[in-house]
Amino acid sequence: MAEPKTLRSLRHVLIVGGCGFLGHHIVKLLIQKKLASQISVLDLRTTQNRQDGVTYVDGDITDLESMKQILGRLKPDTVIHTASPHFDLRKELLYKVNVDGTRNLLKAAQATGVKAFVYTSSASVIYDETVQLVNADERWPLVVGDRQPEYYTSTKVIDAPNILKCNASPSLILSTFSRATRKWPS
Ligand SMILES: NC(=O)c1ccc[n+]([C@@H]2O[C@H](COP(=O)([O-])OP(=O)(O)OC[C@H]3O[C@@H](n4cnc5c(N)ncnc54)[C@H](O)[C@@H]3O)[C@@H](O)[C@H]2O)c1
Repeated sequence: MAEPKTLRSLRHVLIVGGCGFLGHHIVKLLIQKKLASQISVLDLRTTQNRQDGVTYVDGDITDLESMKQILGRLKPDTVIHTASPHFDLRKELLYKVNVDGTRNLLKAAQATGVKAFVYTSSASVIYDETVQLVNADERWPLVVGDRQPEYYTSTKVIDAPNILKCNASPSLILSTFSRATRKWPS
């Protein structure tokens, strides 16, 4: 019997950072719910949290040329970007990966025909301890500049508006989404 059309609608999904905590749960969910026709994972090291039937590729998002090569070879339809260093690592690394690396991924995605790009930001980009995050979404004001006490968060906020703007650009990306509303369970 043919599968309902809603299944596998994300087609080939590449989860960047897919061996990390959030990323590997997304991989498991995609498999369990049969939401993708093909699943690939890109991470610095792909030895942990591996799932059967998934293609694993070692790569560093701070290297633009290798991102173009890897995405050009894999040709994903959807990219879910969950890669980030831990929040307490040094500033240079946080900027290099979260800002430069995210820009590299966007460039590679635009150059290789990706249709949807999901960026994992952080609840802290819209949280200033004065308001409860109830029904919060990407339209909420970003906490930036002097009001943003955490360097890690400032690197998660820099490209959020640009990522959303990719929606309207004449690039091949038809949809972008910046998920900022939830803290992950520990
Ligand atoms: N854990 C939380 O409470 C929390 C809260 C808010 C937002 N986030 C965001 O959610 C996302 C996932 O977080 P997590 O808790 O799963 O973190 P994690 O550390 O478990 O996973 C992140 C993955 O990114 C990979 N990575 C790091 N640098 C990379 C690079 N240069 N190239 C390729 N891969 C690289 C790591 O190897 C790791 O597997 C991150 O973007 C994080 O900023 C997490």
